[in-house]
Amino acid sequence: DTQSKLQLVHAHIRAFPDFPKKGILFRDICPILKDPAALKAVIDLFEEHVRKNYCHVDLIVGLDARGFLFGPLLAQRLGVGFVLVRKKGKLPGATVSVAYDLEYGKAEAEIQEDAVIPGQKVLLIDDLLATGGTLFAAYELMKKQQAEVLGSLVVVELKELNGIDKLRPLSVFSLVQY
Ligand code: PRP
Ligand code: ADE
Repeated sequence: DTQSKLQLVHAHIRAFPDFPKKGILFRDICPILKDPAALKAVIDLFEEHVRKNYCHVDLIVGLDARGFLFGPLLAQRLGVGFVLVRKKGKLPGATVSVAYDLEYGKAEAEIQEDAVIPGQKVLLIDDLLATGGTLFAAYELMKKQQAEVLGSLVVVELKELNGIDKLRPLSVFSLVQY
């Protein structure tokens, strides 16, 4: 059931102090990927949430890099396509980009100009919400492309960084909160 799946996910997240910088408690989701049951639980829980809350989704949009680990699996479950938001300089052809700050640095997010058609209903996915800088940049990119952003999905939410406030009115669904 839902509760045991949430517990399984929670049990497969590790914390590393002072990575990648002093003062950051890094939440590592690698053990989830190493355990097929835990990974299945993540996708089951996301699928359940999406089917319950959205009657139609056109695309899952995943954030570089760890959003790529979960996004395509969910997209396959839902029978929809997957699109990559990458860090700058990785995508060929015409692109659109947005600069942003994250918990431990700066980056620039980029998407192929033809990745999303105006009016398409999309869901954003990543492994973790910290300050919200990354999801906010992806949200901005989607708005530039005139996509309809239905919401976002993350495995982990770091509540004390108040990423949710920064992202309003974008809704964020998370499986595990710290
Ligand atoms: C991490 C994480 C999120 C982002 C969250 O990615 O996977 O994408 O930071 O932080 P924020 O809410 O403060 O923006 P990172 O940029 O470290 O890159 P990676 O996925 O390539 O490791
Ligand atoms: N991305 C931003 N902050 C993070 C953290 N504390 N753990 C893992 N990924 C992160």
